[in-house]
Amino acid sequence: MSKKTSSPNNTSGERGPLAAARNRFQKMVLDRRYGGSKADKRAPFKTPGTVIAIEKVERGIVVRCDHGAIRLTVIAPDCIMVRFQESGKFAIPFSYSVAKVSWPDVQFTVKESDNSVVLSAPEISCEIIRDDATLRFRNAHGEPIFREAAPLSWHEGEMRVTRELPNDEQCFGLATQPVSLDLRGRRYFLWNTDPVGFDRGRLPTYLNVGFYLGVRKDRAVGIFWDNSSRGWVDVGAEEEEQLTFSAASGELRYYVFSGLDLMPVLNRYTELTGRMPMPPMWALGFHISRWSYYPADRVREIATGLRRRNIPCDAIYLDIHYMDGYRCFTWDRELFPAPAVLFGELAEQGFKVVTIIDPGIKVDAAYKVYTSGLEQDVFVKLPDGKPFTGPVWAGNSAFPDFTSPKARAWWASQFDALIRPGVSGIWNDMNEPTVFKSGPNLTIPDYAQHEFEGEKLTHAEAHNVYGMLMARASREALEKMRPNKRPFNLTRSGSAGTQRYASFWTADNRATWDHLKLSISMIINSGLTGMAFTGADIGGFEGNTEPELYTRWIQLGALLPYFRVHTHRDTGPHEPWAFGQPYEDICRKYINLRYEVLPYIYSLFAQNAQNGWPIIRPMFMADPADNRLRSIEDAFMVGDTLLVAPILEKGKTQRKILLPRGTWYDFYTNKAIQGDQEITVDAPLDMLPLYARAGQVIPLWPVQQYIGQKKIEELHLKVFAGSGEVTLYEDAGEGTDYLNGVYRWLYFTCKRVPTGGIEINWRRAGKYNPPYDRVRCEVYGIDIEPRDVQLDNQSAPLWYYEKGVVEFTANKPFDTAVIIDADMDNPGSTLMRSPLKKG
Ligand code: GLC
Repeated sequence: MSKKTSSPNNTSGERGPLAAARNRFQKMVLDRRYGGSKADKRAPFKTPGTVIAIEKVERGIVVRCDHGAIRLTVIAPDCIMVRFQESGKFAIPFSYSVAKVSWPDVQFTVKESDNSVVLSAPEISCEIIRDDATLRFRNAHGEPIFREAAPLSWHEGEMRVTRELPNDEQCFGLATQPVSLDLRGRRYFLWNTDPVGFDRGRLPTYLNVGFYLGVRKDRAVGIFWDNSSRGWVDVGAEEEEQLTFSAASGELRYYVFSGLDLMPVLNRYTELTGRMPMPPMWALGFHISRWSYYPADRVREIATGLRRRNIPCDAIYLDIHYMDGYRCFTWDRELFPAPAVLFGELAEQGFKVVTIIDPGIKVDAAYKVYTSGLEQDVFVKLPDGKPFTGPVWAGNSAFPDFTSPKARAWWASQFDALIRPGVSGIWNDMNEPTVFKSGPNLTIPDYAQHEFEGEKLTHAEAHNVYGMLMARASREALEKMRPNKRPFNLTRSGSAGTQRYASFWTADNRATWDHLKLSISMIINSGLTGMAFTGADIGGFEGNTEPELYTRWIQLGALLPYFRVHTHRDTGPHEPWAFGQPYEDICRKYINLRYEVLPYIYSLFAQNAQNGWPIIRPMFMADPADNRLRSIEDAFMVGDTLLVAPILEKGKTQRKILLPRGTWYDFYTNKAIQGDQEITVDAPLDMLPLYARAGQVIPLWPVQQYIGQKKIEELHLKVFAGSGEVTLYEDAGEGTDYLNGVYRWLYFTCKRVPTGGIEINWRRAGKYNPPYDRVRCEVYGIDIEPRDVQLDNQSAPLWYYEKGVVEFTANKPFDTAVIIDADMDNPGSTLMRSPLKKG
């Protein structure tokens, strides 16, 4: 490691006590000068009063009330948008979160009666009660999904909507809240905040999204509070049976989505706010990071360390030390004298490089990025027109105003410094935005000015979209500068719709067993907010991890959507080999597993890109009718097939698992286990309990040290005998051809044939030609040696049976494979056995 005294590893004078005193003084002066609005909390909230008229308008109605008007718009057969304006006038709504503004026509009806008016779309209706203008939504079956507990209300800019919270409703969404899976019983703040390390229940944190998903046994409701200002969502905390949304300013606007379960709700919500395009496949591999790997030779050591030990890895991250004094878009030439050379070497070893980038631009007249930002007038301003500045890593810094298209374009144009030498992915950090010891909650003060696409609003309105818009600008840079590659863009903060631009991580967690648990609930809820590509700092960011905890976290991380180890600068070594044996071997085993099941995980990403479905899912989704599964949060599903039951406690080597109904297979021994029972399994340190659902197919690839290392010449299918269907996906894993239809969906159907045996149907649709022809299939759960295996009506040329497993190879993908049961009554049956058959 370099002994460089000017290394930014040393705390610069900007962060010493003098700087702190200066910052406090500066803040006091600014706050005094511009102040904040002091709403008179004693004045009562107003409500709309009674309904006085109904007007039919395009796609819906305007409900005129004593005070103001409510506008209901049918967005889709299962979605209605609600808006309120005290003025009664409705401009075209604008929202950074909304991706789709033009929707196909939907048939709807409006029925008026003495007491109410009902607006009905095919799968959702909204009744407005004339007496008090409260709303009641019902689903396609006429069952209630949303009933206002009180009329909407407002007061000095703040507005609220309160809905009844049925006690059998499970409460999900709101992005990555560090709490249990079910969000009930707390108030969540819609104000992106760097908590400087978080713990269970400490709110708010970096990423907060006003999308709530309520799930009951036979129905689901989505509520999207489309407001970027400071707000909160109270999920039965103040009033046990009420769910309240509040926003400090802006328009009262929300969308209600109805579905019989949560999948159609997520589908529609992500149609509205956008879905994550397919990431490059390397982004799904194992990634290694710490704050920070430097100098260049240390990065080389990590790369060769991984390869020498055969620990697969696709990306190495450079944290802030690569920069020159933490100046964004620069290189510390002493630590990294020739980034392009380094990245070239890494590329030859199969590594991609991801660099961090922060929004704060150091105030420094000799720093070109800063001076060009000043010249182009891209920074957030104070009311007097001067840029707001505040301290971050580099010291006093200015902050690009990402709500200005000009600033976003300016930002994107800076990336040459990173992408030209060969950086492949971008890690957007500190974009709540965080300012050390400046405005309240360590951010830009409310009164700072933003362009907001020409609307000129304050930071109070721009704050929550700042992170998303930074991620958007960074993604635009990646798209522009690497036009034939898929962007990998990671962000710490964001708001609704950020999934269009980036993936997420739960940020500065701690190396504790409770944080290991939290990584499950936080990542599941992120997926239930449409943000499926999320991970946690594996091993824990703050504090030295223990080898056992690290190993258990690697096991868990291998099945989470985003799989990266990362840690604080003050912690000890954190690489998979850092703790010696047996930990290193166990970590390798599970990183290998990740690369083996990658084609399955990749298929789930494709389903997410197409439908907004989550990649990891709460256990109850394995059998929504089974109430016993509802409270489980120490196990989860990966897609619809794999059940993961990690060990989450120190010293534990056994655990209980409630297997949902049906048959399940131990993923390692391939033994069938009857579901609908609680089982106890041994899980010594090298064991992550993992099960596959009967009737499903898992595609496997050979272990590769990085994506693309090997040409995949054979697809290995693990088939778990039973009845079921599974949809898989394949494409080139990189590049943009898939956007022009060069991909392929694989539909498998497995069933038990009434006359005995198993039939596997495989339908393929799409233009993509995979590199493999050969398919090797292992079918588990075949109790007796079969009479024959037929591929597309011909006896398979080669098949084996051993200990409950039928294995066969096909020289090309088949349409139908049938495993024909032995005909016990007719042993001399005419069907010939394959001469090569073993057993
Ligand atoms: C923030 C990030 C963390 C990073 C550190 C230094 O705390 O959340 O991941 O390592 O800044 O850049």
